[in-house]
Amino acid sequence: MSKSETQWAVVTGASSGLGIEFARNLAGRKHNVVLVARRAEPMETLATELRQQHGVQVVVESIDLSAPSSPVDLQKRLDERGIDPGILINNAGFGLSGEFITQEPERLREMLHLDIVTLTELTHLFGKRMAERGRGNILLVASLAAYQPDPLLAAYGAAKHYVLAFGVALHVELGSKVNVTVVSPGLMDTGFNDVSGFKPKASLKPSIVSPVKVAAVGLEAMFAGKSSVIVGKLNRFTAFSNRFTSRLLQARLTYRMSK
Ligand SMILES: NC(=O)c1ccc[n+]([C@@H]2O[C@H](COP(=O)([O-])OP(=O)(O)OC[C@H]3O[C@@H](n4cnc5c(N)ncnc54)[C@H](OP(=O)(O)O)[C@@H]3O)[C@@H](O)[C@H]2O)c1
Repeated sequence: MSKSETQWAVVTGASSGLGIEFARNLAGRKHNVVLVARRAEPMETLATELRQQHGVQVVVESIDLSAPSSPVDLQKRLDERGIDPGILINNAGFGLSGEFITQEPERLREMLHLDIVTLTELTHLFGKRMAERGRGNILLVASLAAYQPDPLLAAYGAAKHYVLAFGVALHVELGSKVNVTVVSPGLMDTGFNDVSGFKPKASLKPSIVSPVKVAAVGLEAMFAGKSSVIVGKLNRFTAFSNRFTSRLLQARLTYRMSK
């Protein structure tokens, strides 16, 4: 295994919010970074910053990850550049808030494809190569929404349940060869709320954690080989206390807090 194979990290959703902080943190650790999202301009700006501040190589790949062919297309593009990443940060995602029945079918499909199918296929494609090499790290971004049913974010929350269960299962299945870690942020002040239409109530604001911290805690957990981590004391308390209540009660409480 050559050194260049393991130096590259792919960060999806690197044009905004948490993805930018993952890229900054990884570049600070001297990893070369592939930035992936649809909007090229913010990624080019970030690429310039990372090259200047950390002296690492940065590649920008503008791609719509909700398109079915996108995982294979991305790997092809990286093959053509001779990049075989040793780190995959599956971060791109968006939510849809509000009453499920009123959500647009096309947007729902797009969200589920991005948050579940693309994440799974990227993990499969890049994870397979990592397993063949006997080394690699994959981080999946779930959410506190994975720890209880989420009325008014129902399909998004259920998608994040998938991410959490999938990631922890792979953590065990792939064992020491390829480490898979799931990071679950609670609320962050990013582009997420605008895109999802989610308006957090004032009572939820104390649980907000910065994307800088979420990226740092998530990457720390991944490099330490942990299965999953929830970021923020209040968020960890919420997830812990959910162990002692029924799903129905959790759903009712979440509904009341979100309405
Ligand atoms: N913010 C929160 O409160 C919160 C809480 C828990 C979990 N999360 C999770 O954290 C992750 C990052 O979200 P964020 O908070 O950083 O939100 P954000 O600021 O809206 O960033 C989302 C990123 O995903 C990319 N993306 C969206 N659709 C895409 C598509 N079709 N193809 C390629 N890239 C796409 C966006 O890039 P383009 O638009 O340029 O494509 C952007 O870079 C998501 O998985 C989200 O579910 C967020």
